[in-house]
Amino acid sequence: MDKDKSSTLKFLLARFKGHRGMTFLGGVLLLFSTFFTLVPAILIKETIEQIVNADSTYLFIIFLLIIGSSVIRGILYYGQRIILERVGQTIVHDLRIETIQHINNLSFAFFDDKQVGDLIARVTSDTDLLANFYGFTMVSIINNILTLLGILVVLLVWNPVLALAFIFLLPFIVHAMYKYSVTVRPLTGKIRKSFGQLTASVQQTFNGIETLKLLGTEGFEAQKFSKSSNNLLDRNVSASKVTSLWMPYVHFLTALGTAFTLFWGGYLTIKGTVTLGMLMGFITYMDMLVRPIRQTGMQIGSALNSIAAGSRVHEVLLQEQEDLESGEWFDEFKGQIEIEDISFAYQGSSKEVIKNLSLTIPAGKSVALVGPSGSGKSTLVNLILGFYKPQKGIIKIDGLSLDEINLRKLRTATGHLSQDPFIFEGTILENITFGNPQASLGDVNEALEQAILSDFIQSLPEGVNTQIGEKGVRLSGGQKQRLAIARVLITNPQILILDEPTSNLDKKTEDELQKSLSNVMKGRTVITIAHRLWTIQNSDIIAFINEGMIEDFGSHDYLYDNLDLYKEFVESQVFTLRGEN
Ligand SMILES: Nc1ncnc2c1ncn2[C@@H]1O[C@H](COP(=O)(O)OP(=O)(O)OP(=O)(O)O)[C@@H](O)[C@H]1O
Ligand SMILES: [Mg+2]
Repeated sequence: MDKDKSSTLKFLLARFKGHRGMTFLGGVLLLFSTFFTLVPAILIKETIEQIVNADSTYLFIIFLLIIGSSVIRGILYYGQRIILERVGQTIVHDLRIETIQHINNLSFAFFDDKQVGDLIARVTSDTDLLANFYGFTMVSIINNILTLLGILVVLLVWNPVLALAFIFLLPFIVHAMYKYSVTVRPLTGKIRKSFGQLTASVQQTFNGIETLKLLGTEGFEAQKFSKSSNNLLDRNVSASKVTSLWMPYVHFLTALGTAFTLFWGGYLTIKGTVTLGMLMGFITYMDMLVRPIRQTGMQIGSALNSIAAGSRVHEVLLQEQEDLESGEWFDEFKGQIEIEDISFAYQGSSKEVIKNLSLTIPAGKSVALVGPSGSGKSTLVNLILGFYKPQKGIIKIDGLSLDEINLRKLRTATGHLSQDPFIFEGTILENITFGNPQASLGDVNEALEQAILSDFIQSLPEGVNTQIGEKGVRLSGGQKQRLAIARVLITNPQILILDEPTSNLDKKTEDELQKSLSNVMKGRTVITIAHRLWTIQNSDIIAFINEGMIEDFGSHDYLYDNLDLYKEFVESQVFTLRGEN
């Protein structure tokens, strides 16, 4: 086993911690239930050996023993399954929760190079495979190996010479199990991969259905889907060629054992060194070998798959989380932001998106970041919030560097309105208050008022308790944006970051919103990523960003006179300007 697998296995086994008592109890029951599977053959041997002298009482006792041992075995098996299945499912449940919580606390950088589908699979289908591993696969492998060992021990006690028939078979059995599991394992791996592609293709279709329909290319994803499905078909068929061979092979091995036992055992019986009863016992055991061999081969393959799934889960859990807890906790931020000579490139890219950038924003002032698309405005904002770390330079809030500040506090003290706000499945009230669950209904109404949403919400039959999202009322782009504004306002942020807050709105709503936003902006530090002259002119400082650098900053008039890029930008905006500008 390579190092990777053994460290995953260690990780998986360590999860039994906290369930030691139950695991031990289940293990003991498993051991005893295995022992009882060996009993019938022993009874057969004894009965046939005694048959000449046996009376009806003896036969009745054997009758009861066979039935009794089967009942006891059934009870032990049931108890063992219930206990160990529960332990397994609990372990997987805890693991699932831990994984999703861990993922939630990973930095932005982690998500940058991950596919959503892949992460979903790690939390759902990979943990599901683990449930199989803990609940059944592991138990089954142990049970079957114990049975094989038990048979070996009984045979050795009975007659070591005849037991050689079984011992001779053992290397073939082990080799067959090994061969089967290593052949099947990559095949099932490929099947899972094909299945993943199929799922991703469905996801794409449903997410992009609007675009596909608009472009009249509904068939585009369907083609991809059909290709993935074909792949899956081929792989399933080639896997079945291997798995279908397995049963005949196992039967052949056990027939070999039986033939050998009959041949040699028969000879020894004729010679009188082996009793007829013992020969029968031997043959019964040979026949019993089919199940443990077949199952162990399959279960080792399945265990290897589960270990692979486990390593995918483990990999996520090994990712270092963002440190949201340490650092100084400010009760109140003044909101002075100093950016000192920072440079930043995204992970895996050598291109510096921010280059030697310095900027100071005094507390309570507003700055407008202006610049072409892709110049680094959103990146700069993400750096200020500590979502990424600059490779060079330092960012300070109220005189302390980001490393020394409690990031959770910084983020809750900051209201961030993104370009494309996300609305959660739930009620309007839940969507507004989830950043500040203590907010009163009065606060909610005030925020709705400021976000110019009151009228709309009053028009809904259930008001703020209306369900929104996929299962409820659908909101327009502008309504979503205003809801996001209310969500930000209710947290009463000391620092406000607005990424083009007023797009998607009609002129009247936009006017009202701008008025109320300029009220809200008073006394707070505000960074606006602005494309509109209105917001720009209302900011204390305007910083023009180009290719990750600040070309110049100052007042609108200053920049207009001194920076050609800015002048061009303003002039391009003139067409979209309204009368009052
Ligand atoms: N997660 C990411 N990983 C790698 N590169 C990124 C990532 N996000 C942005 N970039 C790159 O960084 C550069 C700056 O992007 P950014 O989003 O900061 O631009 P922006 O100024 O906000 O543009 P816009 O006005 O269009 O929103 C772009 O070249 C972009 O391709
Ligand atoms: Mg942007």
